[in-house]
Amino acid sequence: MTNLQDKKIDKFKSFNKEDWSSAYQNVEKELTKEPLKISKGNNIKNLNGTLLRNGPGILERGGQWVHHPFDGDGMITSIKFENGQPFLTNRFVKTQGYLEEEKINKFIYRGVFGTQKNGGILNNALDLKFKNIANTHVVKLGDEILALWEAAGPHAMDPDSLDTIGLTTLKGVLKPNEAFSAHPKTDLNSNTSSELLVTFGVQTGPKSTIRLMEFDNAGTNSGKLIFDRKDTFNGFAFLHDFAITTNWAIFLQNAIDFNPLPFVMGQRGAAQCLKSNPNKKAKFFFIPRESGLFRGQPPLTIDAPEGFVFHHVNAFEKDSKIVLDSIFYDDFPSVGPDENFRDIDFDKYPEGKLKRSIIDLKTKTCELETFSEQCCEFAVVNPKNLGLKATFSWMASTSQKLGNAPLQAIKKINLTSKEEISWSAGPSGFVSEPIMVPSENSSKEDEGFLFILLWNGERRGSDLVILDAKDLKELAVYELPISIPHGLHGSWVN
Ligand SMILES: [Fe+2]
Repeated sequence: MTNLQDKKIDKFKSFNKEDWSSAYQNVEKELTKEPLKISKGNNIKNLNGTLLRNGPGILERGGQWVHHPFDGDGMITSIKFENGQPFLTNRFVKTQGYLEEEKINKFIYRGVFGTQKNGGILNNALDLKFKNIANTHVVKLGDEILALWEAAGPHAMDPDSLDTIGLTTLKGVLKPNEAFSAHPKTDLNSNTSSELLVTFGVQTGPKSTIRLMEFDNAGTNSGKLIFDRKDTFNGFAFLHDFAITTNWAIFLQNAIDFNPLPFVMGQRGAAQCLKSNPNKKAKFFFIPRESGLFRGQPPLTIDAPEGFVFHHVNAFEKDSKIVLDSIFYDDFPSVGPDENFRDIDFDKYPEGKLKRSIIDLKTKTCELETFSEQCCEFAVVNPKNLGLKATFSWMASTSQKLGNAPLQAIKKINLTSKEEISWSAGPSGFVSEPIMVPSENSSKEDEGFLFILLWNGERRGSDLVILDAKDLKELAVYELPISIPHGLHGSWVN
């Protein structure tokens, strides 16, 4: 590991693709409260709380690989800190599809990102069933832990044992298997509760309906839905993430089309049927939050910049303007039917760049500013600043300054001065989304810890790395007793 704070970052590629792709393997076991041994640094004194992570845990069955890691069944890792000492528990989400496929060790469902059943096109054509793979995010709502996948309902997990309780309607809030986003936001700054979980579900088609839900997530009402609204927009909507301010929920509808024919005919997965449409304009949808000042008012639609966005970082209100930071790609990145995701040519894929949209709600215009040309993803702010102006953002980035490559570094950027510092796990380490946890009673925005699940390509295993959020100094490294493939999102529960 090298601290690159004072060094020039190598602009040339320095990773070995096999070190990176070696993370893609099935997780072999489920462990319970396994104490983690520290390999570098020291336990964090008085640290209490639980780091939760989700991501694909099954990537191969009976010799057949998934076509894209996003098609892998979800596995939850929980690392619970008791006075600084971490204990690991991991469980596959026992979805109906996981249990059926586990029994015969064979894929019997097609994957959204292109995984096909054996037997070629004929065996896949007209099979429109899908498996809720519960692999994208994991959050606490009320007294339950939810494993999320955006196209279907959440799976409830027992918070201690991580045993799967099953698909949940959240006490009747959702219709059975209703779409429930994998990107809920925890709002600590609303007018109505000390903690809200704000989220959405999309029902898409020629017109698309967004259901915006706000749950109380603190005190005696924890888990209760307190605000609920539905708004319908023209056109097909593919909305993976959104952003919130105190008064608005903000969505970016990318200019893409969905042609379902190759999916229906068994040639492609549904997500492989998404294609950018250069003749279309991307749109922002601004939906007034029912907990905010503009409750009950209709939404606003405003033209958005070109490009494709999976993830937003944060948004805040400034007079009549909204400032929104997002990771933009030039085009929708998809692994084509003839490509092997473990051997992709990074140069052929667009890289993510941190950009700021400043949207004037009065004039309905938008200015776009690029923070950095360096490829990055999974950017976060201090959770206390979500929806408000934040000075700092932390993200996973490439080690090299330009071009696409695996994410090997953690970068902290000052969103006002654009100053940045980096910590790199290269050449053989590969990072995941940093989870920023403020220190207890912290008064400064960058006072806290970053938790990173790292793929250590040198020893072909996973590490947990804890960095100081202020200067990105390595505080502690733990070697994990299981190997976890490159994953998706996670959260921290106090
Ligand atoms: Fe995501």
